[in-house]
Amino acid sequence: MKQPKHLISPSDLSLAETDAILDLADSIIANPQKYAHCCNGKKLATLFYEPSTRTRLSFEAAMMELGGGVLGFSSADSSSAAKGETVADTVRTVQSFADIIAIRHPKEGSAQVAATNANVPVVNAGDGGHQHPTQTLTDLLTIRSLHKTHQLVGLTVGLCGDLMFGRTVHSLVRALMQRPGIKFVLISPGELRLPSYLIEELRRNNVPFEEVEQLDKVMGQLDVLYMTRVQRERFFNEEDYVRLRDSYILDAAKMKLAKEEMMVLHPLPRVNEIAAEVDKDPRAAYFKQVLYGKFVRMALIATLLEVEV
Ligand code: NCD
Repeated sequence: MKQPKHLISPSDLSLAETDAILDLADSIIANPQKYAHCCNGKKLATLFYEPSTRTRLSFEAAMMELGGGVLGFSSADSSSAAKGETVADTVRTVQSFADIIAIRHPKEGSAQVAATNANVPVVNAGDGGHQHPTQTLTDLLTIRSLHKTHQLVGLTVGLCGDLMFGRTVHSLVRALMQRPGIKFVLISPGELRLPSYLIEELRRNNVPFEEVEQLDKVMGQLDVLYMTRVQRERFFNEEDYVRLRDSYILDAAKMKLAKEEMMVLHPLPRVNEIAAEVDKDPRAAYFKQVLYGKFVRMALIATLLEVEV
């Protein structure tokens, strides 16, 4: 039997495959009617063992807009996980009901476990502090759509906040480091620096990067500022979280230091790290980003299911 294609980390997709998904998303945005029935009769299962608003609902909306159906659970408590069932057994069960599975789990590596046990495509919708590849497809589509060049080349990208536990950052770094002319500015407190395995990957690939603690000092160089939430649920103690949670607050005064065409992205949810006053700045792109997330998931589902359009 043919092995299904999974998406566990951005590196599961070649540059050409990623670009094909982004191009398909553009085509869906331009002509949604053309795709409205391409998943008729297909079902997506969302297995969410961790809280989510955007990721789960955008996966479900995406499948519905392709003509398919959705089923699933949104907390471990409401599934057989509460009775001690393993991810492997849950996936072996759910594949009898669904054609594609999106899974979010607090444990790093659990999406890989799901994929190993599945005979339908599995998409990692976030595994602990590890990876979140569909957020990255969302981010890439947002940057490509809103940047004046409509290309993912030659950009200085600032990643700010919890670079240690932020899985969206880990996936975005992996995806962007393959592109020409990308420079990273890694802005975090010393304790929340990007994990060393990713620093090593950057070095091995000769990707320019700098690590800094102060946001104001680098604002003027950035083409993209990717703000992130301090990931409370991944901290070992509340004291450290409280000390670090307000390390960065992007406000109108800081936005004055930025380029006129810089865009601000955030995977959301935000807590305190972007002041509400920034929302009205035309460079604030985080709510547009949410909508791009639905379109790119439509493109991903259609691609993994290899449906005819
Ligand atoms: C992110 C996540 O779950 O990693 N949210 C999302 O999927 N849009 C970011 C976060 O929770 O901070």
